[in-house]
Amino acid sequence: MMKISKAIFPVAGLGTRFLPATKANPKEMLPIVDKPLIQYAVEEAVAAGITELIFVTNSSKRAIEDHFDSNFELEATLQERGKQELLDIVRGILPEGVSCAYIRQKSPQGLGHAVLCAKQLVMNEPFAVLLADDLIDGGSVPCLKQMVELFAEKQASVIAVQKIEPEETRKYGIVDVAASEGMLIAIQGIVEKPHPQQAPSDLGVVGRYILTPRIFTLLENTSKGSGGEIQLTDAIAELLNNESVYAYRFQGKRYDCGSKLGYLEATVAYALKHPELALDFKRSLEAIIA
Ligand code: G1P
Repeated sequence: MMKISKAIFPVAGLGTRFLPATKANPKEMLPIVDKPLIQYAVEEAVAAGITELIFVTNSSKRAIEDHFDSNFELEATLQERGKQELLDIVRGILPEGVSCAYIRQKSPQGLGHAVLCAKQLVMNEPFAVLLADDLIDGGSVPCLKQMVELFAEKQASVIAVQKIEPEETRKYGIVDVAASEGMLIAIQGIVEKPHPQQAPSDLGVVGRYILTPRIFTLLENTSKGSGGEIQLTDAIAELLNNESVYAYRFQGKRYDCGSKLGYLEATVAYALKHPELALDFKRSLEAIIA
């Protein structure tokens, strides 16, 4: 049985929606309370048993590499000052036994192209893709772990979906399913960012995928699609000619941290659950709203 040990994190996007904050700082490094978005995605992957992290990056994303590397000066200073708790936090960012690889996407040609950039590192095994913009609070079982368990059972690609507002289809990959009830649904088709009138369902793809390696060959032959970019969605549509692909309505709450509103919602929700901040923050929030 094939186990999922590798995850791709496409992090080469420009983050124009957050300018000027993302002019010199990658959008994946924006914090939700005290951790950058990318760290939440990495923690979710590690909790699902992933041990090889593959970041598809570009020249303006060096801060991500630094974040997952050791920082000798910082660690030495914290040690000298007896700040053990902070030292543990800094050293624990990347758990023992988990490795990182970085590969550059030289020009922004879309999510499908970004995933294809990691082909040589993934080789011939099933793998996960996580988009850090989509922050998912899965509760007791993180979203990717739920999906890894389903993959173990089905041995087929699994894509996270959620019900979306009918007028929002142009923001998502939309799956075509016979019926949208149930948690795990075999898909018949998938289309990237359709007009509401052309959308095959109200189930939108969220940034978590488990894919079989055949997708790489298909991506090599995928031409530009929506937005003039090479779309992962279009290669998944081709994959359906050879294999089953499942849409999974995961358990948990997804925050669209690629938008300002979603980012603010996530910040408030995570602050309200933060062990040190929750009480004081709730009071501050009530005072602001009153
Ligand atoms: C990407 C995918 C899209 C998916 C979305 C989820 O779009 O292309 O199919 O629904 O992520 O966040 P993007 O948001 O990068 O435009």
